[in-house]
Amino acid sequence: MRATVDRTGLDPQGRLPKVQVRRVRKGDLSKVKDVFEQTFGDFLERQLGTRPRQAFSGAQYVHHRWLMEPWGCFVAEEDNAKIVGAALAVTWGSLGLLGPVAVLTNYQNQTIGQQLIHAAQEFFDENKATLHGCVTYPTSPKHLFLYHKFGYRPKSLTCVMSRAIDRMPPRTAPAGAKAAKAPLAVRRFSTLEETKKKAALARLHRITNAVCRGLDLSKEVEIVDGLALGDTLLLERGRDVAGFAIYHTPGVSEAPTGALYVKFLAIDPPQRKVEHLAEFVAAIEALGQEVGVQRVILPVYTRYWLAYSTLVQCGYQVDFTMIRMQRGKQEDYEDPTHLVLDDWR
Ligand SMILES: CC(C)(COP(=O)(O)OP(=O)(O)OC[C@H]1O[C@@H](n2cnc3c(N)ncnc32)[C@H](O)[C@@H]1OP(=O)(O)O)[C@@H](O)C(=O)NCCC(=O)NCCS
Repeated sequence: MRATVDRTGLDPQGRLPKVQVRRVRKGDLSKVKDVFEQTFGDFLERQLGTRPRQAFSGAQYVHHRWLMEPWGCFVAEEDNAKIVGAALAVTWGSLGLLGPVAVLTNYQNQTIGQQLIHAAQEFFDENKATLHGCVTYPTSPKHLFLYHKFGYRPKSLTCVMSRAIDRMPPRTAPAGAKAAKAPLAVRRFSTLEETKKKAALARLHRITNAVCRGLDLSKEVEIVDGLALGDTLLLERGRDVAGFAIYHTPGVSEAPTGALYVKFLAIDPPQRKVEHLAEFVAAIEALGQEVGVQRVILPVYTRYWLAYSTLVQCGYQVDFTMIRMQRGKQEDYEDPTHLVLDDWR
């Protein structure tokens, strides 16, 4: 089956295409959610031998991502009637992130996945994303082959880590960590006056730009703030922002039931100190206790080895791993001493 993007017409053989790739519309949202739930449910059932009750444990990806980046969301539709696949993509400044991608099990291996990925690639190109990435299952030959076809190369593992925080006394710092000299404080982005938010976003952009040139998380901060999916915690020293963490709390966000989930965290590279990360993680856990969740989930890319090691020291355990795939600009920007937690799912 061949698809066209936002265009009905004849396929190269002169037949009417049965499956067409087009952008997501508002009325598709709950169907797209079902396609993801059902397809990942099937996939996980095959992997694990039992079907999980909920493929994403209550985490949601579709509605807010579409509101944030409608031009990056695609469906594959059969006969203008049935949605059989979907792909979401977003740009964080110069970084284009692809995923989730899913094609209903009965429709797989008919090139629909490739056509969805192709549409996302075009979206990245239109938006001048110079580095493209996704995460996938490292043990699946099909997934590696599929992304390789588009020029994605496997990099290191991403570990999704968590720590139970209920019934635990709040932790201040890991054993052996030195206390930071200047006192650090945390503040929620949502508590800033509207007029101050723009300046705060510019500060956060400076931090991400120092991690990877052109990286910009502003739209993630804004959507979390606008829809109250969670908040962004600013780590401040005096008037300076030393780091920030975008987190989701359960409801209609990417946080699974009962967990506070950090989607992105960065300590400003010139100020990177393990103590800052440990203190920040402790503040996030305290926040988790305040909002009544049982767990904190922190994803970490293992190329950021110092960040990974710090989380292990803080008592975090790996729940599962995925492999990061990248194409485009080379990986030189990845500094193993950067204190960054980022999730490309
Ligand atoms: C991953 C997924 C989106 C791919 O969609 P799809 O429509 O089946 O993919 P396509 O048919 O476009 O392409 C699959 C390619 O892998 C190849 N392939 C299939 N099984 C394979 C295997 N075991 N080893 C190597 N290649 C394999 C196919 O031959 C095809 O390549 P070709 O067109 O060159 O022959 C789909 O399988 C899916 O939804 N899986 C469950 C959810 C998921 O894992 N999503 C992605 C998370 S990163």
